[in-house]
Amino acid sequence: MPRNMPFGAVRRGDFPLAPGLAHLNHGSFGATPHVVLAAQDAWRARLEANPTGFFFEVLPEALRQAADRVARFLGGDGADWAFVENTTAGINAVLASLSWQAGDQVIATSQVYNAVQQALAHHAGRVGVEVVPLPVPVPFVDADRLVQAAARLIGPCTRLAVLDHITSTGGTVLPLAALIGAFRAAGVSVLVDGAHAPGQVALDVPALGADWYIGNLHKWCFAAKGCAVIWAAPHRQAELHPTVISHPYGQGFPAEFDYVGTRDPSAWLAAPAALDYLEALGPEAVRAHNDALAREMADMLADAWGTEIAAAPAHRAAMATIRLPKEGVADRSVTRPLSLRLIREHGIVAPVMPLEGRHWLRISAQIYNEPADYERLIAIGRAI
Ligand SMILES: Cc1ncc(COP(=O)(O)O)c(C=O)c1O
Repeated sequence: MPRNMPFGAVRRGDFPLAPGLAHLNHGSFGATPHVVLAAQDAWRARLEANPTGFFFEVLPEALRQAADRVARFLGGDGADWAFVENTTAGINAVLASLSWQAGDQVIATSQVYNAVQQALAHHAGRVGVEVVPLPVPVPFVDADRLVQAAARLIGPCTRLAVLDHITSTGGTVLPLAALIGAFRAAGVSVLVDGAHAPGQVALDVPALGADWYIGNLHKWCFAAKGCAVIWAAPHRQAELHPTVISHPYGQGFPAEFDYVGTRDPSAWLAAPAALDYLEALGPEAVRAHNDALAREMADMLADAWGTEIAAAPAHRAAMATIRLPKEGVADRSVTRPLSLRLIREHGIVAPVMPLEGRHWLRISAQIYNEPADYERLIAIGRAI
């Protein structure tokens, strides 16, 4: 595949996305190109031709080769990477592996993803661990102030910080390296929720200095659904287990994650095909296109609506969250039906989200998008 290929509607044929839908929500569930789905189908066909031989002889080595490919893209050694179904599963594995003590505290950002907040409520809450919010100001403009606020929150009982690399609601790229530095300097372990980061921002995971990093490949790396990765610092691997304990229990990381019972591993095995697709396009060219499009379209919408964007340009990448002109108090029970109406009545896929009690719309930009996809939102956003 040649580099410097044009982006926009011309790339839509790479994907099975339904014609007539403006897909401005790569952030939620990604979109998988035909070429990756074909690679996944080929793995499935190989498995079904001889299931026993596949699981016994082919899978262990093939998975490790796929993990090596992930390491070449995201940094470090393949032995420090394992696959998980999704970011939520990886976060749960870390939270379930920690030995908590009543009175411990966990710091999580105020924009923590809801599923992660629920996982914290379950794992930390049931043993009397307090979750302390680190407020992410909206709009987010000052990275230093957030790092200082984080340092001030750390107390003698702070055990863990759960940091989104890119927040879901605000589409905000947090100053991750500086935050990790502040927590690690105080002896606090750091779990990074990197659900949106691989493929959306340049990344060398081990260099960040966190204890654990979980990221989705099925969002911004074009992988098939159910393909996420977990990285654990070598000194944190002995205590880490998947939430499903199976035959390899006791064999350590990553073996315990490589086999968690009979399941379809084709999305994981097709991860190299997804990374090949991204690398053939040129990850920097993809990021440059996506970031510029998201920035221009967010400015266009915020100007037209007379509102604001949840993060300054320096703290955004390929997503942007713009406040809607709509009045009234927003919560998930109100915003979800609005998102569904956008799809059903207007053929536009972009989530309406509550943030600090108000209504916001998040847009994503991907190689198959172009300005015309977003322009109808000007009038629709005013009327919603
Ligand atoms: C910040 C954040 N964390 C976690 C997740 C969960 O990802 P998954 O559904 O792959 O578990 C998401 C999904 O959008 C997210 O935005």
